[in-house]
Amino acid sequence: MPTSQHDAIAVVDFGGQYAHLIATKVRRHNVLAEILQPEDPVERFRPYRGIILSGSPALASRGEETGYTKAIYDLDVPIIGFCFGHQEIAQHYGGTIVYGGREWGRADLHLTRPEHPLFRGLEPVQQVWMSHNDSVAALGQGFEELGYTRLGASGPGHRNAAVGSDEHRRYGFQFHPEVDDTPGGDQMIRNFVLEICGCRPSWTMERYIDEQVEQIRARVGQGSVFLLASGGVDSTVAARLLGRALGPERLHLLHIDNGLMRKDESARVLRNLEALGLGENLHFVDATAEFLGALEGETEPERKRAVIGATFIEVFEREARHLGIEDHLLGQGTIYPDTIETGGTKRADTIKTHHNRVPVIERMIAQGRVIEPLAELYKVEVRELGERLGVPEDLVWRHPFPGPGLGVRLLCSRGEPHPELQILREAAGPLAARYGFEALPLPVRSVGVKADLRCYEHPVLLAGEATWERLQEASGTLLREVEGINRCLHCLGPTPKRIDPVAGTVTRARLDLLREADQIVMDGLRRHGLYREIWQCPTVLVPLATERGAELCIVRPIHSERAMTASAAELPAALLDELREQILALPGIGGLALDLTSKPPGTIEWE
Ligand code: XMP
Repeated sequence: MPTSQHDAIAVVDFGGQYAHLIATKVRRHNVLAEILQPEDPVERFRPYRGIILSGSPALASRGEETGYTKAIYDLDVPIIGFCFGHQEIAQHYGGTIVYGGREWGRADLHLTRPEHPLFRGLEPVQQVWMSHNDSVAALGQGFEELGYTRLGASGPGHRNAAVGSDEHRRYGFQFHPEVDDTPGGDQMIRNFVLEICGCRPSWTMERYIDEQVEQIRARVGQGSVFLLASGGVDSTVAARLLGRALGPERLHLLHIDNGLMRKDESARVLRNLEALGLGENLHFVDATAEFLGALEGETEPERKRAVIGATFIEVFEREARHLGIEDHLLGQGTIYPDTIETGGTKRADTIKTHHNRVPVIERMIAQGRVIEPLAELYKVEVRELGERLGVPEDLVWRHPFPGPGLGVRLLCSRGEPHPELQILREAAGPLAARYGFEALPLPVRSVGVKADLRCYEHPVLLAGEATWERLQEASGTLLREVEGINRCLHCLGPTPKRIDPVAGTVTRARLDLLREADQIVMDGLRRHGLYREIWQCPTVLVPLATERGAELCIVRPIHSERAMTASAAELPAALLDELREQILALPGIGGLALDLTSKPPGTIEWE
């Protein structure tokens, strides 16, 4: 539901990777956009001034994904669809969809009706970006073609690349106006939202701040808020916003050192919060021993997460009692993707349990005891909000760091053998050899996501020199063709003669080693001016022994926009050389590798 008094647009997420991007692009025109699920009841759609149907990996021509709330077509609001959404609309109003006419990448859109309000302010030929297998072959009654594509001046073309019916107020684009490769797409989205839907552009960050301040005051009344401050972007911005609304005296902040933080992180977090004027009720607990005690002997990823989550709550509740503030509302820096990832929609498999949505917290939310002032925002908007609230730039642009911290970057194992590796070796070996690599499937498993489902499979280490393009090609082929692997790595050190599973649990010594390696990677990114360009870069320690030492270190630099998908990022050769030299010199490190895997099939974190 639009939670404020703004005109808003509903974006229906059919599972295309761009639904979030669409919402962000709408918000850029100062109109609130929210993501809804296709099966949400029609009542949920009523408050919106317009609806956008996203793309989907499903095929409209095969009747996939037809179980959505079709009653939205009875609503008297404009609806537009992009790609799959375009085909669904055409089909619903009597058009025909065929499998075929696929286009990938750039195409030129020729406007049949350049004067149409959807294209106000645009030239009659527009570069657009395509990615489809199905096409709209014929239109239903009342619909007309608004544009067709042609490749170059005389290349093959496709009809019905943009269609519409002003009578029904239904429109469709075969292309993706939301991506940057459709330069006029922003203007088209603006035209739909402002001209066709008539939304008033009232959603600005300043107004958002004012409204949130008002809402927080109304919600909290004379009470106070107790916020867990990890030092990350989200909780810091949430603290700043709550502080503005309530004053520092009614905001209690608790920073817990769970022993899973980066090197010297807790001291830095406390300094930062104080510098932001939030030091008045800032509490700190060093619960390292408690967390490490609870994690003792745990090796399974979801168990580790559950233990970390439960220990957070125990420490938090004890502190609240100790301070006599257990009746305070619990503040969290939860952002929008956190809520939908664990929202229990039909599409969401639990790939990882986010720590701010564990059962205890869910119960407190149901009891109205939790306040989450960023829950409508995406990371990019949280950063903008942070900047407006005067949070210093280096804090606003910090890489995201997961709640369970290095706990999910320190892989654990009982050191069991993995006889299944033989099959993987036989499958991966010849494929990798085609690209000039030796393939070494590793006797360890990490979490990934395939076709939206959690997978827990083996990584394959590729050994051999190559260009980045060749590595990408080889890893793409292996991940596509070999069943049972979900990550590809490139060996940065000498090719190990042997790689054996060894027992490893969460211990202070292993964490300290990981902290050192992580610090080297972070310093390297900063030194090379890459810290902001790289979205996130986990450093991971895996209990695998080579002849040089008992731990394999993995560096995972990625590009991403919203963490829902990610691609592996290339690092300059000079930086790789430095990492090789410094990390391999750490006592206990037996090897170093770069993670080449996109998400999917890998996740950003290894657990
Ligand atoms: P994955 O590994 O699922 O991560 O691709 C996506 C993004 O979420 C972060 N992440 C977490 N953040 N609590 C958090 O606050 C968690 O439990 C958690 N697990 C993953 C991860 O760092 C990445 O940015």
